[in-house]
Amino acid sequence: MLPASMSISTNEDGQIMTATQTASNNLDRVLVLEMVRVTEAAAIAASKLIGRGDEKAADAAAVEAMRTAFNNLYMDGTVVIGEGERDEAPMLYIGEKVGNAPGKGPKIDIALDPLEGTTITAKAGPNALAVLAIAEEGNLLNAPDVYMEKIAVGPGYDEGVIDLNKSVSDNVKSVAKAKGVEPSDIIVCVLDRPRHEAIIDELRSLGCGVMLIPDGDVAGVIAVTNPDTTIDLYMGTGGAPEGVLAAAALRCVGGQFQGRLVFRNEDERARARKWGVEDLDKIYKLEELAKGDVIFAATGVTDGSLLEGVKRLRGGTMTTESVVMRASSGTVRWVKGEHRG
Ligand code: FBP
Repeated sequence: MLPASMSISTNEDGQIMTATQTASNNLDRVLVLEMVRVTEAAAIAASKLIGRGDEKAADAAAVEAMRTAFNNLYMDGTVVIGEGERDEAPMLYIGEKVGNAPGKGPKIDIALDPLEGTTITAKAGPNALAVLAIAEEGNLLNAPDVYMEKIAVGPGYDEGVIDLNKSVSDNVKSVAKAKGVEPSDIIVCVLDRPRHEAIIDELRSLGCGVMLIPDGDVAGVIAVTNPDTTIDLYMGTGGAPEGVLAAAALRCVGGQFQGRLVFRNEDERARARKWGVEDLDKIYKLEELAKGDVIFAATGVTDGSLLEGVKRLRGGTMTTESVVMRASSGTVRWVKGEHRG
């Protein structure tokens, strides 16, 4: 039975609405925990394929589960960062409407990656995540599926301590000075790719610690915000959609991030223009990637620096670990789930 002070409102379809849904269309705090349900569903589905050597099947399972979970929610959602353009992706493509209240529920833009780390999952490596960010309509950059040059540092530094226009050495020296340590004490996370050879050489010449990750730069960027990882900086080029997701997380927990789109050919430039990018050389800061109130949620698929992966226990129970954060309140919640059946 409900306490006398609580009441339930329903919409015209008889679905339960939360207090703020009845008052306004802003992001509702109830959505914070709903987002965990969505990432949990994707992570659990993908986890059945950990170490099975099949990236596509793992991704497809996560996509389908995330889409189903979104479609149970009272919202008028639009995927702005998703699995690709409509002709490339059958589900959760850019522009796809999700949620069960189109035209009626709160208008929400969604950036998602049901399985960030498809190769990691196929090989049972670390740091695969199911991840998403939501914001009010128009508040997430519609990043094209191209590369993005990224630099990130954790919270506690003066604005401007990092600058994508400056060299690797200048950025390391700037962070070292602000931290009160030598450049050789700085630890930098970089995706292990041949394209990063020059960055890695420059970092090594400064004596920095370089943590090379095989994949998964959403977790790599977020790692700078967690002192336990000892990572000071993230540098290098990865997916632009992943850049928006990581920026959404940093909007919630603090830290600085800059990103610049990287185009390999005219087709990619045209793709960016199609999504409304006018200045192709622009350096995006956090607020330009994810502005206003933002909710970020992730569930671990495999064990990693941010989250434990899905565990399957005897008797069919599964455990999950998730994190959900909100920019307007700065609240970070760690959610352990036990799932039976
Ligand atoms: P997927 O989950 O799509 O495989 O992406 C993994 C990832 O490592 C991202 O974290 C990163 O941004 C991107 O791929 C880097 O791209 P590439 O593998 O082409 O260097």
